[in-house]
Amino acid sequence: MATDVVMREPGPEDTETLVEIALAAWEPIYASFRQMMGDDLFVTVIPNWRAEKGRQIREMCQPGSRMTVAVAEVAGQIVGFVSFYADQSRGVGVIGNNAVHPAWQNRGIAQVMYAHVFARLRALGMRAVRVNTGGDPSHAPARRAYEKAGFAVGIPCVDYYRKL
Ligand SMILES: CC(C)(COP(=O)(O)OP(=O)(O)OC[C@H]1O[C@@H](n2cnc3c(N)ncnc32)[C@H](O)[C@@H]1OP(=O)(O)O)[C@@H](O)C(=O)NCCC(=O)NCCS
Repeated sequence: MATDVVMREPGPEDTETLVEIALAAWEPIYASFRQMMGDDLFVTVIPNWRAEKGRQIREMCQPGSRMTVAVAEVAGQIVGFVSFYADQSRGVGVIGNNAVHPAWQNRGIAQVMYAHVFARLRALGMRAVRVNTGGDPSHAPARRAYEKAGFAVGIPCVDYYRKL
């Protein structure tokens, strides 16, 4: 399956497809956050995650963005995307927003995306790569996907919230 995945640069006409994939992919994550936080805290600290995620995706697709974006296509259809940048001062690459449409998850597509990023970062002289993800149950697929891709060192962090 994953051998049929083609990585390419997105064009401006692809931006809204990436937003759609992101909103579909993060829906269960924010539903889980809402359940963990309760409605009141959730709407206080995350009032409109769809608008914010859409803004992030549109911004990373802008010419001149620090992030480089690559899309994963299967049979001419975009099924996922990954963003990354090379921190030249440290020689460390960073993976940012990335997602596979829920209809295409668990087929190794993310592995093709991460392998593509590793090759691009190596070509830019990067000696290591970092990615940040959640330690909560909704991010279990992301943690598993990263571990499969060889991210062997994970330092857990916690986001704490309280109402004032
Ligand atoms: C993270 C993401 C991009 C991975 O894409 P993908 O193409 O499905 O990833 P892969 O198929 O390479 O690997 C997924 C792995 O997670 C596993 N998995 C799926 N659901 C899981 C769960 N609830 N608990 C544990 N593992 C799970 C799959 O079984 C697979 O592992 P396996 O091959 O050992 O069986 C995708 O899940 C996604 O878009 N998630 C929502 C957005 C997100 O979290 N992005 C990353 C933010 S840091």
